[in-house]
Amino acid sequence: TRSAPAPAELLTIAIDVARQAAATAYRMRAEGVSVAATKSTVTDVVTAADRAVERQVLDALHRVRPDDAVLGEEYGAGAADGAVSGVRWIVDPIDGTVNYLYGLPYCAVSLAAEVDGEVVAGVVRNLVTGEEWTATAGGGAWRDGQRLRCSTEVDLGQALVATGFGYDPARRSHQARVIAELIPHVRDIRRLGAAALDLCLAAEGRVDAYYEKGLAAWDQAAGGLVAAEAGLRVAGLGGLPAGPDLVIAAPPALFAPLHDRLADLDASGGP
Ligand code: IPD
Ligand code: CA
Ligand code: CA
Ligand code: CA
Repeated sequence: TRSAPAPAELLTIAIDVARQAAATAYRMRAEGVSVAATKSTVTDVVTAADRAVERQVLDALHRVRPDDAVLGEEYGAGAADGAVSGVRWIVDPIDGTVNYLYGLPYCAVSLAAEVDGEVVAGVVRNLVTGEEWTATAGGGAWRDGQRLRCSTEVDLGQALVATGFGYDPARRSHQARVIAELIPHVRDIRRLGAAALDLCLAAEGRVDAYYEKGLAAWDQAAGGLVAAEAGLRVAGLGGLPAGPDLVIAAPPALFAPLHDRLADLDASGGP
């Protein structure tokens, strides 16, 4: 692209915007959180903070990068008719909304920058603890100044595997059946409640691997880059790229056994 800035420059912007967004979400949480509306199903909730934070992110990006496109969970592609720069920002204003609603300290702002369709910079900031994970394409994955490497576990039977569930009841039933069959073959399962953070935990070996069906671009973009830059293989089933059908993030030695087990269990199938 003609004049797309370097990944490091996009990351600097992303970090600045994500910190302001996280501060707003933190403040609104202290003021009290309630459900503003439900979306795809009754369990798929949105709070005033999800919307206010995304609005703030869109406004802040527009001020510094008026010609970029955006994609956000709450406002979609918004009014971004820009898209002339080749840069697109992908924002999950609050990943882990249900945790946010219940005051559980596992929710984050996720912001990524794509250049010509490829994620090149990303930041995930836990809005309660202030932990912040960043990555640029080819520049490694970092948390609070420390370079991250994924787990060196080689035995799926000893692996702590994180996953998550969608909001559709039929999909959740299928996901539960997959877990029922997977759990005897792994150390244990974690369902922590924020996909972007799950990917970041995998990036530093605080879980060994992660998989989930049904992720949207805003769940996956920043955390997926952090995981990949920490050495995890991030992909879908059968050589497909990671996407809505399935995201698997696993250290090289665990990828094939986890992938094959998930393929056997039809983890990308069902509703
Ligand atoms: C959800 C969380 C959850 C995951 C869901 C996501 P939201 O995002 O990341 O952990 O299991 O698939 O939709 O709605 O809290 O931003
Ligand atoms: Ca999300
Ligand atoms: Ca969200
Ligand atoms: Ca949501």
